[in-house]
Amino acid sequence: MCRLLEPNDYEYNITTLLQSSQNPTECIQPIKPNLSIITSIIDLAGLEIALTARTMRELILKKALKQIQASYDYILIDCPPQLSILTINALSCADYVLIPSKTDYLSYRGIEQLLNTISVTQQECNENLAIMGVIATMYEEKIKDCRDVLSALEENYEVLGVTKKLSIVNKGLYDGLAVTEQSSTNQIALAYDKVCDYIIRKCEVA
Ligand SMILES: Nc1ncnc2c1ncn2[C@@H]1O[C@H](COP(=O)(O)OP(=O)(O)OP(=O)(O)O)[C@@H](O)[C@H]1O
Ligand SMILES: [Mg+2]
Repeated sequence: MCRLLEPNDYEYNITTLLQSSQNPTECIQPIKPNLSIITSIIDLAGLEIALTARTMRELILKKALKQIQASYDYILIDCPPQLSILTINALSCADYVLIPSKTDYLSYRGIEQLLNTISVTQQECNENLAIMGVIATMYEEKIKDCRDVLSALEENYEVLGVTKKLSIVNKGLYDGLAVTEQSSTNQIALAYDKVCDYIIRKCEVA
């Protein structure tokens, strides 16, 4: 089971890392064997403004992760939905991008914008950045919009997995249980297991 963290309990988090160049090791909290996290607090929007005046502001995360990356097999960077300096920091140091997209039209259109940002980042700061694929989320087979968007995603992108909209996802929120820990056989857990296998295979080959 994961240790459930209260982000406000920690003095050092992703904001202090980005804003005050906090030593990244001090920002990492262990949550279970082989899994640690750097927590985030709500005030990422304020951080965006604070970073505007910084030179090399796109590369702050890259510089920080260089200090710790040898200690980890995988570093996953969760990005805000809007494209911002925080997203660009993530794209500037990542090897791959995984794009979760709800199966609705506006989310589908959002991918185009993200692809533009990825392309600019590839040209300007990270030529190694590659798109791993899309995870189609919140899928509801009964809804025509969902079916149409899933078809369009499959036609245009590499879809690594499809997760249905199911209430079981929210069940573990209060207990700190990932959906894969509530029951390893639920449909969402199986879909994410498949995506994980794909990621591991891809990274082993690379
Ligand atoms: N397959 C699913 N079925 C039902 N609910 C889901 C599913 N996936 C995610 N949710 C719920 O949707 C909400 C948002 O999920 P999540 O935080 O993963 O999305 P997000 O796009 O990263 O959101 P944010 O923009 O806040 O970062 C959560 O309450 C989560 O439990
Ligand atoms: Mg999120």
